[in-house]
Amino acid sequence: MPLKIRTIAPDELEAFSRCQNMAFGNEFYVDSLEHRAELFEFDRNLAAVDGANIVGTAGIFSFEMGVPGGVLPTAGVTMVSVKPTHRRRGILTALMAAQLEQVSERGESIAALWTSEASIYGRFGYGQASEETLITIPRVHARVERPVSPQGTFRHIDGEEAARILPAVWDAMAERHAGFMKRPLAWWKRVVRDSPQHREGFTSNFFVTYEVGGAIHGYVRYRTKGSWDAHDLPTGKVKVEELISLDGEAYSALWQYVFGLDLVDTITAPFRRSDEPLYHQFADSRRMLRDIRDGLWIRVVDVEAALAGRRYSTEGRLAIQVTDSFRPAASGTYVLEGGPDEASCQRSSVPAEVSMSIADLGAVYLGGTRVATLAEAGRITGERKAVATADLMFQSSAAPWCPMMF
Ligand SMILES: CC(C)(COP(=O)(O)OP(=O)(O)OC[C@H]1O[C@@H](n2cnc3c(N)ncnc32)[C@H](O)[C@@H]1OP(=O)(O)O)[C@@H](O)C(=O)NCCC(=O)NCCS
Repeated sequence: MPLKIRTIAPDELEAFSRCQNMAFGNEFYVDSLEHRAELFEFDRNLAAVDGANIVGTAGIFSFEMGVPGGVLPTAGVTMVSVKPTHRRRGILTALMAAQLEQVSERGESIAALWTSEASIYGRFGYGQASEETLITIPRVHARVERPVSPQGTFRHIDGEEAARILPAVWDAMAERHAGFMKRPLAWWKRVVRDSPQHREGFTSNFFVTYEVGGAIHGYVRYRTKGSWDAHDLPTGKVKVEELISLDGEAYSALWQYVFGLDLVDTITAPFRRSDEPLYHQFADSRRMLRDIRDGLWIRVVDVEAALAGRRYSTEGRLAIQVTDSFRPAASGTYVLEGGPDEASCQRSSVPAEVSMSIADLGAVYLGGTRVATLAEAGRITGERKAVATADLMFQSSAAPWCPMMF
């Protein structure tokens, strides 16, 4: 019987989830199903079905993501899996084709994902658009050169209050950082529910706000794990899950709060920015260990809408040739006219000045990966002046940042 790609009915969610857990090598917990259903968009999740069995999955969460100069609807691709019994016979390829078609029909101009392996998605037109930094700080060296004297106050709040008052702070970041996803309410519920399966031996969440004059300027969500060595010396750990701040004072104050936690020898913070200001505040910056890896991967689905949907660091006009071998209809030359305040993009038959693959367009789209870097890598070609213009135009003021795994 030929394989079918289709959406699933609610009573197939368990089979869909079991396929994913087997593919990733994770335990399946039946009590997680009810919570999964709250986030699950049944019209956006595809299964590859062999007879009566689900053997492949590919899902989407509908997000709004920050891009340079704005916020755009974005397909957050997730739950991509093929059972080991059915691998390397084109099921992922079929799922990707059907999924991108669905994204295009829905009018979203970009898709974004986190990948389990950096070798998988380039062939489907995704490019590496941001970096994630895992920070590790031995607390004994957690000293900043010019500590601030916080004018505000710290307040410990419970999860219920967090879900009520923190979304506004979180969502404001999408206006400032390309790659930042606004967090829908169902996702906040998940954060607050804080399933023990995801704690890795740490405590449940602590939420602490930093407030000035009653207004929230930032917050930290963290966990701790207490331990003692053979000499009864404290060797506790702190894991900073989120540290979100609306201004520099809140940023510094919240890190100082974290460094002030007692009985701790190591602080870790995953999903930090590649241009983390803390590094430049440290008295001994080498003591802040940074493990940098690929972050968000971006797939441009509608070139005209995506390029017109962001803003550019300087005024410019470029004829860009885009090659899309996975969705060939998108291949062609596009004239982009853009600047800090507006942008337009149309297909054109003028001679191209710069050429790149759709994956490389995705890589430079958020302004994190530079056009000049990809040109030097031999991936983007063109006239020297046009490449330099493209390099300037696509840069953004802050590094793209997506502190949320989905
Ligand atoms: C990754 C995965 C979904 C691939 O599924 P699949 O159905 O075997 O993929 P396909 O047969 O469609 O392969 C398409 C191409 O990608 C390549 N490919 C597939 N998985 C790859 C991997 N992990 N690394 C490198 N290349 C890979 C194939 O070799 C094939 O290349 P080709 O077109 O040159 O022949 C599957 O191996 C899996 O479920 N892995 C574990 C879960 C996982 O990592 N999911 C991705 C989450 S982001």
